[in-house]
Amino acid sequence: MREPSPAVFEANGVAFPPPPPPPPQSLLERLKDYGQEDAFALWYELSPEERDLLVKDIQSLDLSRIDRIIRCSLRSQGVPAAAIEAVPESSVSTVEERSIEERERWWKMGLKAISHGNLAVLLLSGGQGTRLGSSDPKGCFNIGLPSGKSLFQLQAERILCVQRLAAHAANESSASVQIHWYIMTSPFTDDATRKFFENHKYFGLEAEQVIFFQQGTIPCVSKNGRYIMETPCRVAKAPDGNGGVYSALKSTKLLEDMASKGIKYIDCYGVDNALVRVADPTFLGYFIDKGVAAAAKVVRKAYPQEKVGVFVRRGKGGPLTVVEYSELDPSLASAVNQSTGRLRFCWSNVCLHMFTLDFLNQVANGLEKDSVYHLAEKKIPSIHGYEMGLKLEQFIFDAFPYAPTTALFEVLREEEFAPVKNANGSNYDTPDSAKLLVLRLHTRWVVAAGGFLTHSVPLYATGVEVSPLCSYAGENLEPICRGRTFHAPCEITF
Ligand code: UD1
Repeated sequence: MREPSPAVFEANGVAFPPPPPPPPQSLLERLKDYGQEDAFALWYELSPEERDLLVKDIQSLDLSRIDRIIRCSLRSQGVPAAAIEAVPESSVSTVEERSIEERERWWKMGLKAISHGNLAVLLLSGGQGTRLGSSDPKGCFNIGLPSGKSLFQLQAERILCVQRLAAHAANESSASVQIHWYIMTSPFTDDATRKFFENHKYFGLEAEQVIFFQQGTIPCVSKNGRYIMETPCRVAKAPDGNGGVYSALKSTKLLEDMASKGIKYIDCYGVDNALVRVADPTFLGYFIDKGVAAAAKVVRKAYPQEKVGVFVRRGKGGPLTVVEYSELDPSLASAVNQSTGRLRFCWSNVCLHMFTLDFLNQVANGLEKDSVYHLAEKKIPSIHGYEMGLKLEQFIFDAFPYAPTTALFEVLREEEFAPVKNANGSNYDTPDSAKLLVLRLHTRWVVAAGGFLTHSVPLYATGVEVSPLCSYAGENLEPICRGRTFHAPCEITF
């Protein structure tokens, strides 16, 4: 820190204003304890208002917790983790082995639990859609379907549909079943997300069944662990990863809120999958039937470099966990199982998890003590322009090793996985590719229900969209479609 020289204050007989006060001593000492005193480096160049902002910003940080996280996370770099083992097919509920009777039984079990109010859905929506090139929260994104619906609207309408199906199965009125929707935002997405829901009247849901809460942020650091200053009076911060949901649920007391509402199961998912089956009764029924604490839907990995995490076992017979695509050694990513000819690490995470409330309570306490965060090298906005630095994140699946019992449930990617990650023009996972996946699936539903299609563009580039208000997974479409002809592209609704 450059202190002003006293000589500056009186020169040529002209009196200058008194020098700025030094930084608050106790705060400076605390920063020194953690080697972060550089945060005050520009103190004497700041205006009184800026100094005030800087003090408030530093005071808002839990310095000792952040220090522990930075040290543990940097130290763990380069320490070889226990070797990983592939999850054998026999440990996964595969699509192939599932009988129609089983599927129907799970569907009914799921609907019953939903009609009793036992299921909540939890949306992870705190991420910044940087790769998508949009400054809006990703859920506001319209992927170009004939209806022009946003990702949020598609999800809201699927919730409405499941509520109706559950009420119908229980011989109750539609209004009697409510699925609570907990939406995690971050300081970067909170305001815009809330406004979007308000402006769209919660897409037909009751305002009180949608509960917003914010995840935390954590300072971005240089490779030697020093805070990066975004401005002279603010430390650069980023959301603490989608695993920040556990501490956010705890600090907002939402786990207690869930318990008071009779919620026992939580369906937790990422915002950017246009085919996501939110509140899927079949998955819930399977989960209840298995009696496990945590489960995930998986799809078979399409190709070695696909940007998906893969489920593995850590150590011999060790716990189930996910190795993220950014952390998987390329030679392991392309390793082939000689007996099946398939990729050895083939069970892809689609960011769709089911947890019991009991387990969430347990993990919200346990994971908080886990100070090893994932490090991602990213360009961080700083007083020197963009500089390379580290973002610290926890991942939602970091909870899996804590689960006493787990299960993996295979689903078909063409039915349930249409990721929206990159802007149109990229080679994969774009709004356009997701739109086509939705249109193709819905076209198959309509044809299976006895409908016909005409189209003026090639069918591979178009199709029909079925409103989630009519059908959740292709059911109940015959009365609407049989014998009718639809001109693609169009939306089929009541
Ligand atoms: C994620 C999964 C990856 C999976 C892939 C499938 C994680 C950590 N990775 O990768 O294993 O194969 O989806 O599409 O889950 N989010 C927050 N807060 C944050 C960061 C992210 O809520 O601080 C949310 C995002 O808004 C999104 C979800 O978490 O809904 C996934 O985050 P994203 O960064 O898009 O993960 P991917 O890299 O695509």
